[in-house]
Amino acid sequence: MPDRPAPDGPLVLGIETSCDETGVGVVRGHTLLADTVASSVDQHARFGGVVPEVASRAHLEAMVPTLERACETAGIRPGDVDAIAVTSGPGLAGALLVGVASAKALALALGKPLYGVNHLSAHVAVDQLEHGSLPEPCLALLVSGGHSSLLRVTDVTGGGADGGGVDPMGATIDDAAGEAFDKVARVLGLPFPGGPHIDRAAREGGTVTIDFPRGLTGRRDLERHRFDFSFSGLKTAVARWVEARERSGEPVPVADVAASFQEAVCDVLVRKALDAATSDGIEDLLIGGGVAANSRLRAMAVERAAAAGVRVRVPRPGLCTDNGAMVAALGAEMVARGRTPSALDLPADSSQPVTTVLV
Ligand code: KG4
Ligand code: ZN
Repeated sequence: MPDRPAPDGPLVLGIETSCDETGVGVVRGHTLLADTVASSVDQHARFGGVVPEVASRAHLEAMVPTLERACETAGIRPGDVDAIAVTSGPGLAGALLVGVASAKALALALGKPLYGVNHLSAHVAVDQLEHGSLPEPCLALLVSGGHSSLLRVTDVTGGGADGGGVDPMGATIDDAAGEAFDKVARVLGLPFPGGPHIDRAAREGGTVTIDFPRGLTGRRDLERHRFDFSFSGLKTAVARWVEARERSGEPVPVADVAASFQEAVCDVLVRKALDAATSDGIEDLLIGGGVAANSRLRAMAVERAAAAGVRVRVPRPGLCTDNGAMVAALGAEMVARGRTPSALDLPADSSQPVTTVLV
């Protein structure tokens, strides 16, 4: 690491391969210089979900071209960077391994410090590229195909006084929110990944006509699971409703079912996120992950947060889904806050705990 990073922040290259996106990002401090993503989503579509082995192979093929394109876009050579950051977990084991091995090779060859970082914290840190320094504490609602969590963030690098900084308040006890979108889309005959299709169907002519269940919001559930989520009952309720329609020979009103399902998901997410924030005196809510691209979630969060006296930050949709810029953004923060780099034998950890921000 150079003694003095450039005055406008450290130059960091970030690598993300935890699921089906090969992402390479380059940032200088809070400034985004390149965000290159190669997705293998088309190869998984016919299976209705991500196939781990297919994802790993696609990462292998995409890594070098994606790296080259990112450096070209940023106008840098790999040797210019102050540090390399990589998602070390959580995610698919084989997919993570490709990114971690690539990052190690780069760090070793270039003689640069390496930071193995947590994917979830990276989803939080990416907002700095759009809205500037993160307010700490903030409450992060992370919703994607793989995770649904409420996190209390006091230090996004995990360098808090007691080694903490990113503390879970709640999480899904079954399906992730994005997973529910994908499964319901399948029931409705919409393509994978289903989130954007449900969003569009709901927006273009959908009306909330069906009162689908709101998981873990009953009085007794709230005692044990106040900040946890459950979407599997909702998914089953939608499937039953559609089956009953089909049995009776009536057409399925796809747009209305999509709008009603989406309303149920967003209602629970926003309600619990604002409850968590206000119960803890936190005034800033940050929403990230692929589902944060949902137009209804964004509108509902802004509207209800204003009424609760909470500010909302949501990165633009392209930064909400998995990408390398988010990893670079967290890496830059690690450098800026003087965190000790990872050892070169750092593992890829498919179940890395959310509290382990840096390995
Ligand atoms: O963050 P992400 O790209 O990858 C994971 O870490 O999972 O999130 C992908 C998920 C998918 O389940 C997809 O259906 C969902 O995000 N998604 C959406 C929207 N755009 C993507 N869900 C609802 N509305 C959207 N507009
Ligand atoms: Zn993600």
